[in-house]
Amino acid sequence: MSESFSVQSHTGPYQVHFAGGALARLNTLVSGTIHVLVDARIARLYEEPLRGLRAASVTLVEAEERAKTLEEMPLYVRKLLEQGFRRHHRLVAIGGGIIQDITCFLAATMMRGVDWLFFPTTLLAQADSCIGSKSSINVGSFKNVLGTFTPPREVFIDVGLLRTLDERDVRSGVGEILKVHAIDGPESFQDVAKAYDRLFEDDAVLAHYIQRALRIKKRFIEEDEFDRGPRQIFNYGHTFGHAIEAATEFAVPHGIAVTMGMDLANFLAWRLGHSDRQTFDRMHPTLRRNYRGYETLSIPGDRFFAALQHDKKNIGQREVTAILPDMRGCPVRVQRPADAPFQDACTSYFEGCRLA
Ligand SMILES: NC(=O)c1ccc[n+]([C@@H]2O[C@H](COP(=O)([O-])OP(=O)(O)OC[C@H]3O[C@@H](n4cnc5c(N)ncnc54)[C@H](O)[C@@H]3O)[C@@H](O)[C@H]2O)c1
Ligand SMILES: [Zn+2]
Repeated sequence: MSESFSVQSHTGPYQVHFAGGALARLNTLVSGTIHVLVDARIARLYEEPLRGLRAASVTLVEAEERAKTLEEMPLYVRKLLEQGFRRHHRLVAIGGGIIQDITCFLAATMMRGVDWLFFPTTLLAQADSCIGSKSSINVGSFKNVLGTFTPPREVFIDVGLLRTLDERDVRSGVGEILKVHAIDGPESFQDVAKAYDRLFEDDAVLAHYIQRALRIKKRFIEEDEFDRGPRQIFNYGHTFGHAIEAATEFAVPHGIAVTMGMDLANFLAWRLGHSDRQTFDRMHPTLRRNYRGYETLSIPGDRFFAALQHDKKNIGQREVTAILPDMRGCPVRVQRPADAPFQDACTSYFEGCRLA
């Protein structure tokens, strides 16, 4: 498999490289004047390889949701300006989705747009969010309500960095890998499902599925970068996953909530006649393994339905727009009433079927 590939975007193509030892080689991979925003935990864990970093400034960021609020942005802007940031300088993000969102948003807005480069360090960022151009910023407790489409200039993926990730963050990323493969079709999903255990044990296997997930996603974002049509299929597991996250006050990591959200989508599709039972049964064992430890977590129905209503992707108050599998087992966009049968099916999933 090749060591790099390119993604077309509205600002031109950008390269995604697979680069071992990326942090130690950062000075050789990146040229020009750079200002680095780095996850504070990464800076601690990888102090040695980062020691020789030549940058005009380095900002440590704790990877917490608060750090990517609009309220925090002036701190980053002020620090960059105090460190001599100029229009032709570039931003470099080293971290997961939180550091990505901050850097991408700053790159979109500072001086009306500057270049940024990304070294993703979580599996979620490496296998999914590092391509696709989106930045998502919180305003207070309103999550991901501001954003832009601002692709990086280059992405450097080093799978070796994932060895220090907490297990729940690995599983969160695996949730997105499962999602992308399910979107590609039942055969792709079965293929990654068979490799499930080896994703946690073998870097080469994980690298293979990261690259495959990115290549599948590339097809969709090149066709629909601005998320107006085919790309919306990537919301599979997300309408419900976001509601699960909100109803549990974010006790469930994003990709694990998405895994449960896909399982619920398959269950609803079967119960409400969009799909057959086979799709739910085929995917359930793998999805359930990926959200293990959270299967008995209480998800208060009132909060879950309230969160669904507030989802920014829902059009009406009484309608829900979700990605559900069809009769072939392929996810498709469905708009349907959030009526009593819909609510009853959600409740029976949370009260029992999730555990089966
Ligand atoms: N813009 C997008 O397209 C997009 C897509 C998906 C998610 N997101 C956003 O991304 C955020 C979640 O991102 P995430 O799950 O990638 O992680 P994160 O940035 O929230 O980090 C998760 C944890 O992992 C730690 N960490 C990061 N890399 C590590 C490593 N190599 N070793 C050890 N610890 C490491 C962090 O310090 C943090 O504790 C959310 O805010 C979500 O909204 C954005
Ligand atoms: Zn996601």
